[in-house]
Amino acid sequence: MERQVIEGDGVRLRPYRDDDVADLVAGCDDPLVRQFLDGLPSPYTEADARWWVGEGAPAVWANGGMAYAVADPDSDRFLGAVGVDRLVPMRRQAEIGYWVAPWARGRGVATAATRALTGHAFASGLVRLELFTREENVASQRVALAAGYRHEGVRRAASPQRGGGRRDSIAWVRLADDPPGPTHRLLPDLPPNGLTDGVVALRPTGADDVDLMHRLHTLPEVVANRVPPEPPGRAETERRCRRAASSWLIGTVADLVVVDVATGEAGGGLALRYDEPLTGQAMLGASMLPDWRGRGLLTRAVRLVVDWAFDTVGVARLWAGCRPENVAPQRVLEKVGFRREGVQRGRLPGPEGTRVDSVIYALLPTDRS
Ligand SMILES: CC(C)(COP(=O)(O)OP(=O)(O)OC[C@H]1O[C@@H](n2cnc3c(N)ncnc32)[C@H](O)[C@@H]1OP(=O)(O)O)[C@@H](O)C(=O)NCCC(=O)NCCS
Repeated sequence: MERQVIEGDGVRLRPYRDDDVADLVAGCDDPLVRQFLDGLPSPYTEADARWWVGEGAPAVWANGGMAYAVADPDSDRFLGAVGVDRLVPMRRQAEIGYWVAPWARGRGVATAATRALTGHAFASGLVRLELFTREENVASQRVALAAGYRHEGVRRAASPQRGGGRRDSIAWVRLADDPPGPTHRLLPDLPPNGLTDGVVALRPTGADDVDLMHRLHTLPEVVANRVPPEPPGRAETERRCRRAASSWLIGTVADLVVVDVATGEAGGGLALRYDEPLTGQAMLGASMLPDWRGRGLLTRAVRLVVDWAFDTVGVARLWAGCRPENVAPQRVLEKVGFRREGVQRGRLPGPEGTRVDSVIYALLPTDRS
C-alpha cells in the first residue's frame, strides 16, 4: 500500500515520527486502551513505542497493511492510531483498528480517521473491511456505526483477555459499495434524560444494574416466562447487563430499567425486543419487584415505552405473551389498550418437558388508551 498522507474531516493520517514516542507511551498506557487492546504490552514503555515507530509500523506496511498516526491537521500533534492489517489478498479483505489518546477523545477523531482510512483502503483495491469490538466497548461500536460498518455477527470467545479468559468479539463489516454511513439503526438512542412522565422514568440497562436484574429474573413468576423456564446464573445476568448497550446499538433489544422518579430507586425492567423488523413488529416484556407492584408504575412505564416504540422507533405492531394464570400483566396490557388475540397452545417449554400455553396480546398505534 502507498504511504501517502490522508486528510480527513478534522484529522490527518500521516506516518509515525520519532517525536510521537512520548505521546504513544502516554496514549497506550491509558486504562481504556489497556482494557480493550489486549495485544499491547502493559506497561507500555518508551522502548515499546520506539520499536513501534522503527519496526512494528514499517512491518505492517511491508506486509501490505497500513499503519497511520492520526494527527491534528493544524498542530500535527499525535492524537491516536488507525491501521489496516491482516490482509487476505485473495479476498481483497483486511481488518481495520484504531485507538485515540485520552486528550483527543469524544470529539469525532476515531470516526473521522476510520472513515478516511476506509475510503482510502477501498480506493486502493480492497473490497471488504472487518472491524472487531468487544461487546462492552460501546464507544468503539458507535465509531463503527458512524463510519458505515454493519453488524455481521458474534465471534464467540475470539478475544483473549489480558490476565486470562476470553470474551466474545462483535464483527462489523463494510463493503466497498456500502454507503459511507452512519449506518441506520433500528433502535435510536433515548433522549438524554431517558423517557419520563414525571412519576416513572426509563433509562437503558447498564453494567451497574446486575443486582436488580438478577433479583427480577430469579422471581418465580418471571422464571416461568423464561425460555427455558430456569433461573439465570449470576454470570448470565452480568453478561446480559454488560451487552445491553450493544444489543441496543445492533437493534435487537432495547433493555430498560424502570425508575421511581420520587426516590430515584430502580425496581423494574422493560424490554422492547425488535423481533420482526421486516414487518414492523416488536415484542414487549416486563417485570417489577414485588414491593413495587400495585401502584400503577408498570402501566405508566409500559405507556412510555409504547409511545417511544410507535412514535420514535417506528414500530407498527407491538405484541406480548403471558402465561394464562398470570393475570396482573394482562391487566396492565389491557389498561394500555392491548387486545387479547388468542391463546397459543403449548407455545413455550414448561418445567420437566411439559409445554405451556401463552395468551397473546397485541397493540396497534390507534388502539392506545
Ligand atoms: C473507541 C475510541 C477509539 C473512540 O475514540 P473517539 O475519538 O472518542 O471516538 P468518536 O469521538 O469518534 O466517537 C465516540 C463515540 O462513542 C461515544 N462514547 C464515548 N465514550 C462512551 C462510553 N463510555 N459509553 C458510551 N458511548 C461512549 C461518544 O459519544 C461517540 O458517540 P456519538 O458520536 O454517537 O455520540 C476510544 O474510546 C479509545 O481509544 N478507546 C480505547 C481503545 C479502543 O477501544 N479501541 C478500539 C478497539 S475495537
